[in-house]
Amino acid sequence: EHEPYSSKLRVPEALTFDDVLLRPKESRVEPDDADLTSRVSKSIEVSVPIISAAMDTVTESEMAVAMARHGGLGVLHRNMNVDEMVEEIHRVKSADDLIIPTDSVVTADPEMTVREVDEMMVREGVGGAPVVNTRGEVLGIISSTDIRPHLEVNEDDAVTEAMTDEVITASEDIDARDAFDLMYEHKIERVPVVDDENLLVGLVTMQGILQRREYGEAVRDDDGRLRCGVAVGPFETDRAEAADEAGVDILFIDCAHAHNLNVIEGAREIKESVDADVVVGNVGTREAAEDLVDFADGIKVGIGPGSICTTRVVSGSGMPQITAVSQVADVASRHDVPVIADGGIRYSGDAIKSIAAGADAVMLGSYFAGTEEAPGRVVTMNGKKYKQYRGMGSVGAMKSGDSDRYLKDEPQDDDEYVPEGVEAATPYKGTLESELHQLAGGMQSGMGYVGGETIPEFKERSEFVRVSAAGQAESHAHDVVITDEAPNYSPADE
Ligand code: XMP
Repeated sequence: EHEPYSSKLRVPEALTFDDVLLRPKESRVEPDDADLTSRVSKSIEVSVPIISAAMDTVTESEMAVAMARHGGLGVLHRNMNVDEMVEEIHRVKSADDLIIPTDSVVTADPEMTVREVDEMMVREGVGGAPVVNTRGEVLGIISSTDIRPHLEVNEDDAVTEAMTDEVITASEDIDARDAFDLMYEHKIERVPVVDDENLLVGLVTMQGILQRREYGEAVRDDDGRLRCGVAVGPFETDRAEAADEAGVDILFIDCAHAHNLNVIEGAREIKESVDADVVVGNVGTREAAEDLVDFADGIKVGIGPGSICTTRVVSGSGMPQITAVSQVADVASRHDVPVIADGGIRYSGDAIKSIAAGADAVMLGSYFAGTEEAPGRVVTMNGKKYKQYRGMGSVGAMKSGDSDRYLKDEPQDDDEYVPEGVEAATPYKGTLESELHQLAGGMQSGMGYVGGETIPEFKERSEFVRVSAAGQAESHAHDVVITDEAPNYSPADE
């Protein structure tokens, strides 16, 4: 008698996004009422469980600020030196500060003429400026309304002639409510913040306060500053400590194969030397999760699902993402460790399927790489607009950073790189806000079909059905010619 299969080929099946669909269930949940609040790590909550990838064509401070303002989280990439990283963290953490610090305030010198001040304000894009002497003392405040021609101010006069010298000032402990009331009461747009000796320490503006109010869902720390993550290598303890010192909220230990035991030792060492939460990844099996749950504040999942990623074809190894997430989540949820599904998400449906499989949040690269807030400029090819998007394991990205994400030594020559990613272009998409709106809105629709009003309830209720190739073809737009592109579905994606 011959066995039909050799023992090596008695293999389990592993599934990905297109292999499954969420089974519709009885529901009273209207999509708009579905609450996407979730956790990305043990102590960090987000309003929408969406994270922008730590890639040099996706997340720098501008993206991280926008992600946090809209309720998610950005993870700064690590293709920059430690000083630049610290600077980037500060940019995010201070972006929504109530008080603009002195070195960023546009000030006028009392020696300047009205014309010079006017020109300066136009150049700097501000509507007013404190007038400050060389000691840093506030002598007055000038605004563009003080110097418009109908007020018959002589342009060659010293600014001290035109300024308001009875200045309303505030002290450093002012909060947003009091600042607003003060400006409202006096009908003013800006208030210099001064110390006991009337020396300028900063400026509060009405524009800044209104901007903070606009972002009601923003993810902030206990001091009201935007939250932000940063990627560090598993052996970069110094970088991790510098990021922690700079006030970052979460460190993402960034490695293509975090079930490497040296990587786990490195991650453990970093965890012991910082205050920030430490998320470790990427992994794709329950055994890897078992090895991380005793110290990680979050586990990131994804071995080869990424759009720009060639790990699976280059190395022959990987794990289809729905199976990977569900295996890791089986273990992690028992230890109350949040799980992040990283890579391969093309549609909002993939994102909510990840949550159903057990993830608490999702991380995306290609989805955001084409937005205004992503680094890099817009290029036009054949009349269409694109932005660059490249894998962190592509030759280009490894040359401008590290190859240790892939546990390889730095090569001497370019042709010695063994890349696990490609360099590409992605269609330009406009603002992050509209992309996030589509992504979060689609996820809420998924919660409506399943009848889960909160993320934990949805995870509990959701069930998958297996889809055949025919079922998958039926899922996409078919047998029609699309005439108007939908904002969340492009025929080019098929
Ligand atoms: P998406 O599909 O959202 O995936 O574009 C983003 C995720 O892909 C991972 N990544 C890579 N994986 N080679 C890889 O195997 C690479 O060069 C590469 N660059 C990024 C990463 O986890 C990212 O968040």
